[in-house]
Amino acid sequence: MSDKLNTKNVAIILAAGKSRRFDEEVPKQFAKLAGKPVIEHTLDIFDNHPLIDEIYVIVNKEYFAFTKTLIQRGLFKKVKKMLLGGETRQESSSVGIFACENDVKKVIIHDSARPFVDSNMITSVIQSLDEFIAVDVGIPPVDTIIEVSDDSKITNIPKRESLLRGQTPQGFQFPFIKKAHQKALKDGINNFTDDCSLILNYKLGEVYVLPGSEYNIKITYPLDMHIADKIFQIYKTNLNDISSDNIKDGIKGKIIVIFGGSKGIGLEIHKMVEELGGKAIVFSKSTGTDIRDFNSIKNALKTVYDKFKKIDAVICTAGVMKFGNIETIEIEDILEQINTNLVGSILVAKASITYLKQTNGNLLFFASSSYTKGRSSYTPYSASKAGLVNFVQGLSEELDHYKIKVNIINPERTDTPMRRMNFGKEDKSTLLTPESVALYALKTLVSGINGSIIEVRKK
Ligand code: CTP
Ligand code: MG
Repeated sequence: MSDKLNTKNVAIILAAGKSRRFDEEVPKQFAKLAGKPVIEHTLDIFDNHPLIDEIYVIVNKEYFAFTKTLIQRGLFKKVKKMLLGGETRQESSSVGIFACENDVKKVIIHDSARPFVDSNMITSVIQSLDEFIAVDVGIPPVDTIIEVSDDSKITNIPKRESLLRGQTPQGFQFPFIKKAHQKALKDGINNFTDDCSLILNYKLGEVYVLPGSEYNIKITYPLDMHIADKIFQIYKTNLNDISSDNIKDGIKGKIIVIFGGSKGIGLEIHKMVEELGGKAIVFSKSTGTDIRDFNSIKNALKTVYDKFKKIDAVICTAGVMKFGNIETIEIEDILEQINTNLVGSILVAKASITYLKQTNGNLLFFASSSYTKGRSSYTPYSASKAGLVNFVQGLSEELDHYKIKVNIINPERTDTPMRRMNFGKEDKSTLLTPESVALYALKTLVSGINGSIIEVRKK
C-alpha cells in the first residue's frame, strides 16, 4: 500500500456562523482585530503550523466572496477548500468532514472566532491523537455552574472540580468523526454545539481532554472585542522570542530615520542601529527640523532618500511635555504639546508613506502610560498621546495594503531627560532605562507586527 494513504492532517475552520450574540454590523469572525479580520489571525496560525497539511474554511453565502478575496490576499498556502456551511455549527463542521478524502488521518476542528489559539496547543492535540480517537481542550470555570429548571429554580449545582469549559481546537481520528457525523445525519440530529459531543453521543470512544488557555477566548459578545484587543497587546505582541540574532539580521543594512533622536530613547535607538550595522539618520529640533512643519519633514526625508535611495523605517520619538494646570498654563505651551506630539506625528506619517511603501517599511511612534487615563497637571500631554494611539490604530489599517507596519511603543516611566526635567530626581531603580525601551523599538521593527501597542514594563 502506498504510504500516501491516511497521512494528511486537515484543519477545518468554522466561519459560517451568523454571530447573533455579537450584534454588530459584521460577523465577529470578520471584525477587525489589530488591523485585520479575526479570521485572518486564526488562519495565520494554522497556515504556519508544521503539522497541518490542508485547511478547509467553512463560510456562509453572504461572506463567501469576501473570504475568498481575503484568503487570496493573505497568500495562505494551505487553504485547499472553501465550502458553504449550514444553519447550525454541527452542519457546518459536517460539511468540512464530508469534504475530506480518504487520505485524511487527523482532523482538527476550530472556531474561527478563537484567534488566540496557541500553536503548541494545536501540536498537543495532533500528537494526542496518536493515542486517542478524539481530543478536546478545556479550562476550569470561574463561576459556579448551576442547573436550572424551566421556572428558574436551581435543580442542581455540580461540583466545580469535575467541570471544565470546552474550547477548540478539537481533534479527531478521521474515521471516527466521519462515522459520528454520518450517524447524526441519518438520525436527523443537527444541533450539537461541538463535535466531541457527537463522539460521546454515539459512544464511539473516549475523548481525552488537554488543558486549554484563558487567552483562547471565543469572541461572542461585543465586549469580547475589547478583551481581544487587550489580549492582542499583551500576548500576540510578545516580543520576548525575538533573539539578538533576529534583531541583528533585521537591522543590518537598514536605513532608519529618527525624528527627535538627539537625546533619550531616540538617541539610544540611534546608537543601537549603528552598532548593528544599520544606518540611522537623526533629525531634531536642535538640528533644525521641527515636525510641526510639514515641509521641514519632507525635506529631511528627501535628503535621506536622495543619498541612500531607500528608507526602511521612520521612527518618531519627538515629544514635548509641559507641566501645568489648564487654568494657568500658557496657550503656547498647550499648542506646542499638541502640535508636536499629535499633529507632528501625523505629519511625519503622511510624509513617510511615499518612501515606506517602496520598502514595506515601518512607522514607529511612542505613547505614554497616561494614554489610557488622563492625568491631572499634564492633560494636553496625555490627551495628545491618547490621540496618537488612536491614530496609529487607524493608520495601520489604512496602510496595511502597502504592507507598511505602523506600531506604537508604550513604555512605563523611563529615565529620559524629558522626564527628569518634569519630575525631578526619582529613584532610578523604578524607571526603565532608555536602552531597554530602544531594544523593544528594534524588536518591533523586525517582528513584522502591525497595528500594535507594545507595552514595555519594568518587570
Ligand atoms: N459556526 C459555523 N456555522 C454555523 C454556526 C457557527 O461555522 N452555522 C461557527 C462560527 O462562525 C464560530 C464557531 O462556529 O466561529 C462557534 O460558533 P458560535 O460562537 O456560536 O458563533 P455564531 O453561531 O456565529 O454566534 P451566535 O451563536 O452568537 O449566533
Ligand atoms: Mg452559535
